[in-house]
Amino acid sequence: MLLDQETERESAEKAAGHTDVFAKCETDGGYFGKMRAMGDDDYTRPTLPPNPDRIMEFKGREHIMWSINNYLGLANHPEVIEVAHKALDEFGVSSPMGSRMMSGNSAYHQAFERELAEFTGKEAAFLFNYGYMGVQGTIQSLLGKDDVMVMDKLSHACIVDGAFLAQAMNGTQLRVFKHNNMENLEQVLKRVNRDRKGGVLIMTEGVYGMTGDLAKLDDITALARKYDARLYIDDAHGWGTMGRGGRGTADHFGVQDEVDIYFGTFAKSFASIGGFSASTKSVTEWITYNARTQVFAKSLPMVYVQSLRKTFELVKKGEDRRARMWKTSESLKNGLRELGFYVGPGEAPICSVFVPLGENSMEHVGSQTAGFLRQKGVFVTAITYPVIPIGLLMFRMIPTAVHTEEDVANTLSVFEKMRDNLGLRLSMTEEEDKKIRKVYGT
Ligand SMILES: Cc1ncc(COP(=O)(O)O)c(C=O)c1O
Repeated sequence: MLLDQETERESAEKAAGHTDVFAKCETDGGYFGKMRAMGDDDYTRPTLPPNPDRIMEFKGREHIMWSINNYLGLANHPEVIEVAHKALDEFGVSSPMGSRMMSGNSAYHQAFERELAEFTGKEAAFLFNYGYMGVQGTIQSLLGKDDVMVMDKLSHACIVDGAFLAQAMNGTQLRVFKHNNMENLEQVLKRVNRDRKGGVLIMTEGVYGMTGDLAKLDDITALARKYDARLYIDDAHGWGTMGRGGRGTADHFGVQDEVDIYFGTFAKSFASIGGFSASTKSVTEWITYNARTQVFAKSLPMVYVQSLRKTFELVKKGEDRRARMWKTSESLKNGLRELGFYVGPGEAPICSVFVPLGENSMEHVGSQTAGFLRQKGVFVTAITYPVIPIGLLMFRMIPTAVHTEEDVANTLSVFEKMRDNLGLRLSMTEEEDKKIRKVYGT
């Protein structure tokens, strides 16, 4: 669906004319253009204090925060901060200087990569500064002219951009399959194999970050084998939260060995920054030498390398934290369902709540509902088209290990008031239900 967002920029360009590249900037086109033109600072680019926590101040009032990916509550963990202080004392803020290829490599980066490889059951791993750059660079490095990339329709922007980069630079062909629809994936793979000249890379997420559903990795790995394709999993939301010891979504399905390249970010359960791709020694080396987003970019700073290794220890032994996160998730989902809200069937901790728009506009219902929640001190992110189908609004909530039972109870009470005060229709028509089932590929 992120593919659809391209058309927004194109239509803004058309409306503004092509004679000046800046002309479109005066319009309300582009991503979130209407909100930008309105000067909105509630729903787009809200200014928040820089200390992530379960309670955060927004516009002078305390809010229960359901919009940050601090799944395990490791943001600002004292042991991590202590290690970060030590790293700063030892290495300063500049270290290392340069890209890994030139002058930015260190024994610490390499040691961390070995630790990641061992834990994910792969021969080797390679670090990136951002998850986004990791996925993009890995795809671009591997796919050539005769290769085909087959990706899920709901793929994150970094997967789409990696695909576009491979297409633009190397002439790679792209194919999209319906979200989590195995019949459609098989059809696409059959078609691709009919006149195949090169390799095939299937790309999916592990946990879909908006809808909280899991890629059917047991079926996808079987299809990859059947059709002689390679499989790359972006497990941004599953890494640290799913599987044994937080090993991720493929481990949850018991198919980690069948995944050719496993990707995790440090921006979510690790509450930091960076990411990695892990695979065989030769594939990882190839990525290391060919992923432009890292070959031509400065290496991950030492303060992050060292503090991430500490966080990694906490994630590995984080069973209590994961249990608390799941408990928050279950209480929140069950409570909302009891109030009559339509909670998506995603099996990950993410709680996605759908509200039908009916005759009303997305902007009207969106600002009424999200505005009500904010006024009552509940901070959630409202998601609209093009991420979800027209006619629906979705609240996407991230339960964490640090939310308390009281946070959940207070949030449920505010949702109940919102339902009653705004007279929300919660039950879905057959058509709306069909749209949601389509989102989940069921
Ligand atoms: C599925 C997925 N992949 C990659 C990324 C990008 O990761 P990072 O924030 O580490 O750049 C995100 C972040 O939103 C994501 O949800």
